[in-house]
Amino acid sequence: MPKWLKNAVFYEIYPQSFYDTNGDGIGDINGIIEKLDYIKELGCNALWINPCFDSPFHDAGYDVRDYKKVAPRYGTNSDLYRLFGEAHLRGMHVLLDLVPGHTSEEHEWFLESQKAEKNEYSNRYIWTNAAFEPAKGMLYVGGETERDGVYVLNFFKCQPALNYGFLKPQEDWQLPMDHPDCLATREAMKDVMRFWLDHGCDGFRVDMAESLVKNDDEKKTGTCALWREIREMLDEEYPDAAMVSEWNAPVKAINQGGFHMDFYLNWGGNGYNSLMRDYDSGEDNSYFKKDGKGDITRFLSEYLPRYEATKENGYYCLLTCNHDTKRPKFNLDDSELKIAYAFIFTMPGVPFLYYGDEIGMRYLDVKTKEGGYQRTGSRTPMQWNTEKNAGFSPCPADALYLPVDSTPDAPNVAEQEADKDSLFHTVKDLIALRHREEDLQADADFETVYAKTGKHPFVYRRGGILVALNPTTETAAAPVSADGWKVIFSIGSGKAENGVITLGPQSCIVLK
Ligand code: GLC
Ligand code: CA
Repeated sequence: MPKWLKNAVFYEIYPQSFYDTNGDGIGDINGIIEKLDYIKELGCNALWINPCFDSPFHDAGYDVRDYKKVAPRYGTNSDLYRLFGEAHLRGMHVLLDLVPGHTSEEHEWFLESQKAEKNEYSNRYIWTNAAFEPAKGMLYVGGETERDGVYVLNFFKCQPALNYGFLKPQEDWQLPMDHPDCLATREAMKDVMRFWLDHGCDGFRVDMAESLVKNDDEKKTGTCALWREIREMLDEEYPDAAMVSEWNAPVKAINQGGFHMDFYLNWGGNGYNSLMRDYDSGEDNSYFKKDGKGDITRFLSEYLPRYEATKENGYYCLLTCNHDTKRPKFNLDDSELKIAYAFIFTMPGVPFLYYGDEIGMRYLDVKTKEGGYQRTGSRTPMQWNTEKNAGFSPCPADALYLPVDSTPDAPNVAEQEADKDSLFHTVKDLIALRHREEDLQADADFETVYAKTGKHPFVYRRGGILVALNPTTETAAAPVSADGWKVIFSIGSGKAENGVITLGPQSCIVLK
């Protein structure tokens, strides 16, 4: 287990929208380098950068055309190598986004694979025997290739699935996982990983990690075995490299697959969803809404067993948001976000902050871009200041990759840095607290102390520290004895007296 994860706080960067240094309206690698000090000062010491590789961008870069080449719109490979070096100089680590399940339909492997004559890449993707033979039960495309067959997709039409084999092949075109051509796909992906690790990257966020082996069973036996082998390669060759899976099944991903971390993703009705985004039914019962209708046990009943089952082997990670999810500002105001973030940054595992969430950037109602659809509203340019295009780019507004939030009260970094009461400062203070207190970092024990349906506050213990949260506008008290403990952090007001912890409206205290 890479030691640096213990105290890692990640910042996810959507490279298109972070900072544009050459005025073409789109963010770039040099822009990330220029803003490293900003990220470091905020307290984040690790980055996850969304795919920045050569691509036709039909899915914002998750359709990779060349795994080993930085997309020209972001810069060059040398720029990225320089980013690794600059990050390391500041004690920061950088994860790239690995997309192992599929490539772009314009990837060289696919261009070869679709040829009528057999070649080295014929089985790199999954093909049936004839253009009129469907790939039953799978997404596929027919009629577009020289080759007489249909090919299987992993996600959008532009993303043919790479062939890692089938756990239990049922048709003659379904190869077993140990077929030499399927093993060659696996080796090709390891080669991509080694390429970037050798150039200084510190690991990968792994896209659709569960999707590799087809016809896998419920336990994902095949896919987990494959990842376990990759973990062994890392342990042996790159013991400091880390992998985080987009999976949200930590027992499989961490215990069986060997991932160091797995994301707790926002899936409708799940525990994480109940915290900040429980509005799809029409009524918003999110736990962190100040009206207090939420119920923390909805989160805990799902989280606790997963946490207990995986805590010895890796980290089940909480995030403020990601590039696929509605920003938390969509339904929570800054006072609500402060309490939500107090929770996220004091929980076990490794926290992930999505760029702009530290200032409460809004989810915007914008036109879809590069396959984003409803996700596009969470991908707009970072708001740095009150200058042109919120300081993101000097280009004309109509040349921007995506529009900047133009509402008069759009939040921005410069103004929030100058305001001690801002969301930005709460985030900064929380991360600093986490860095100061080992018991608030990834490994320290987590235990609920007071968590009751329909009641507030919520109190939990991390090692020798107690955290008490009251997201509501009413004062809340719990029979928890912490008399004499020292308050080491607070939002709003709170105290521990006579065997009772009492919190004012929208308050949080951390006691030691
Ligand atoms: C993951 C990514 C998403 C992408 C998809 C296909 O879910 O997070 O943005 O569209 O995989 O690669
Ligand atoms: Ca640029």
